[in-house]
Amino acid sequence: MAVLVTGGAGFIGSHTVVELQNAGYEVVVVDNLSNSSPKSLERVQEITGKTVKFYEADILDASALDKVFAENEIDSVIHFAGLKAVGESVQKPWEYYHNNITGSLVLFDVMKKHGVKNIIFSSSATVYGAPAEIPVTERCPKGEITNPYGHTKSMLEQMLMDIQKADPEWNVIILRYFNPIGAHKSGKIGENPNGIPNNLMPYVTQVAVGKLKCLGVFGNDYDTPDGTGVRDYIHVVDLALGHVKSIEKIKENPGLKIYNLGTGTGYSVLDIVKNFEQATGAKVPYEIKPRRAGDIATNYADASLAKEELGWVAERGIKEMCEDAWRWQSSNPNGFEA
Ligand code: NAD
Ligand code: UFG
Repeated sequence: MAVLVTGGAGFIGSHTVVELQNAGYEVVVVDNLSNSSPKSLERVQEITGKTVKFYEADILDASALDKVFAENEIDSVIHFAGLKAVGESVQKPWEYYHNNITGSLVLFDVMKKHGVKNIIFSSSATVYGAPAEIPVTERCPKGEITNPYGHTKSMLEQMLMDIQKADPEWNVIILRYFNPIGAHKSGKIGENPNGIPNNLMPYVTQVAVGKLKCLGVFGNDYDTPDGTGVRDYIHVVDLALGHVKSIEKIKENPGLKIYNLGTGTGYSVLDIVKNFEQATGAKVPYEIKPRRAGDIATNYADASLAKEELGWVAERGIKEMCEDAWRWQSSNPNGFEA
């Protein structure tokens, strides 16, 4: 039996494929490569020494998905495929709703047709909006979402809950990620954003490697210890391992489950700069800029439910996250392009 990983060539997907293969799972990947390189899967194979069965296909293409399910004995799906840039989603809501919502509906439909009723879905801490309580538990109500990307996550969570309610044979595990950073220890795979990065860590690493001049720190007047935004950064390998634990959980027929995947510790933007400089010896010049629209002051997880029910905790600290992000960036200054 195999695990189908949609979006498996991407940042979190490729790291998850490594950990699934290391744990002995057969893996099939579907990705349209709209935000990734096929080289990431070649690198995955170098890391694990195992072959990844890859279909270059779009989740919007029902017949392509049909073929994947017909040709493989799939028993569970980990669904990463989606567009994820918050700012771009404000400019292109059509693309985001079509790709993320329609694409997922096509996938769910093909799963139903083939009697595959186990799914792990990539959601985001963004569904909490400005969280009602910090640290954020899964019981915290969903908050006001300020962009189409976040709406797609929230809507897809709801759709999966409704599907599971209508047919309790479905097992749905919704994982709400906090801020994934870092890279595989080998330095062979990592985050590879197109154009100028929107997220903090890839911006920091690109400044450190000399591709960008200076980090803009978005606001230093938040109600936080140093005035800059505080987030729960989680090593992508810990996040990947959370998916392996979820695949184990789904075999118990858990019905519907929602878990935060974070470390429970918050770091400010300036903490990240300082830790990165200490861990790597590289310099990250920065300047204070105005706040970025839609940002909140503080967000970090209460991840105790994942610990209790999945037996999962994030084990890699901030130093390791910075070192590993840097190893990837400095040995691949142009990402997967030579
Ligand atoms: P990514 O862009 O690196 O990976 C997503 C992959 O999906 C890419 O390889 C892309 O080519 C593929 N894809 C997109 N649309 C597709 C389609 N229609 N058909 C087939 N493949 C398609 O992003 P990531 O950081 O690895 O994120 C993975 C998932 O986790 C996404 O759903 C994202 O929204 C979610 N998430 C990410 C973060 C984060 O900060 N990285 C935080 C919370 C949630
Ligand atoms: N920041 C800067 N300068 C930058 C980039 C970011 O100061 O160049 C700051 C932000 O203001 C924020 C912090 O660094 O305080 C983290 O910003 P990111 O963009 O890295 O991450 P966000 O928390 O804003 O959002 C990320 C993903 C979302 C996801 C959310 C929760 O981009 O998709 O984490 O998982 F929903």
